[in-house]
Amino acid sequence: MIIKVLGSSAGGGFPQWNCNCHNCAAVRAGTPGFKARTQSSLAVSRDGISWALLNASPDLRQQIASTPALHADPRRGLRHSPIKAVVLTNGDVDHIIGLINLREAQAFSIYGTSRVLGILKSNSVFQVMAEPLVPRITLPLDQPVQIKGDGTDLGLTVEAFAVPGKIALYLEDASAGKDLGTQEGDTIGLKITDPAAKTSFFYIPGCATIDDKLAKRLEGASVVFFDGTLFTDNEMIEQGLLDKTGARMGHISMLGDAGSISAFSKLGVGRLIYVHINNSNPALDENSAARKSIEGTGWEVGYDGLEVRL
Ligand code: MLT
Ligand code: MN
Ligand code: ZN
Repeated sequence: MIIKVLGSSAGGGFPQWNCNCHNCAAVRAGTPGFKARTQSSLAVSRDGISWALLNASPDLRQQIASTPALHADPRRGLRHSPIKAVVLTNGDVDHIIGLINLREAQAFSIYGTSRVLGILKSNSVFQVMAEPLVPRITLPLDQPVQIKGDGTDLGLTVEAFAVPGKIALYLEDASAGKDLGTQEGDTIGLKITDPAAKTSFFYIPGCATIDDKLAKRLEGASVVFFDGTLFTDNEMIEQGLLDKTGARMGHISMLGDAGSISAFSKLGVGRLIYVHINNSNPALDENSAARKSIEGTGWEVGYDGLEVRL
């Protein structure tokens, strides 16, 4: 399998258009140690020819342009796309809006839970990718499904599983109580497997907490791409950016007793890579104390263009 990080940033990207926080100002100024990042998405392929996207970010047009493997192949006719499928992990803006870039009467498949496909269905703009050309396939939980699209079998399976999370920001219902209307299937993680090669990896860009069930599932995995939104739970409040903790946003933080570094420390995962990193995260600065403190814990900070082969 070839896995490419198309975008390693959380919603808003890095720099975020309206943000002058320390990190956004530094990356805009070209300060050494700061890399610009586009919004959250991975691409995966078994043969390097046919690809599945894991989430479709608002920056997808730019991500395709900077990834030759995703370009239309002139040997394949006037219209062509190597992108045969898109798998969605939630209905957040940063994960679904890129679908709009895939209009223009091109065949591919969209995979998501019934909750997330329901969001697409209730927003008529997504009809621009109409069935049967673009089928929407409901992902069951805890069951591997072959990834296919445009008449091609990618030779990979995807298994969706529920992870602790939250309903999409724009669907939060304060009257629904503490969980804001969140239901099973609103946030999932993915296990992508190449059955022929017996290799697999996990992709979990949004996760509120690592409970026993999730820890057990991830134990001994070879590669996990994981939610790196925040360094500390209250960093957005401390920086005066937003009046919300990570817990309120449905994102675990890196540090802390319940943080991802601590939770993964005993799970024996081969390679741990942070993605969906928010622009407020001090670990984005390669020269920061925050970055130095996570080096040595086994974690890598993902970046756009990072490629992993399994
Ligand atoms: C999130 O990850 O919390 C969301 O992407 C937030 C948003 O939609 O802006
Ligand atoms: Mn997000
Ligand atoms: Zn910022």
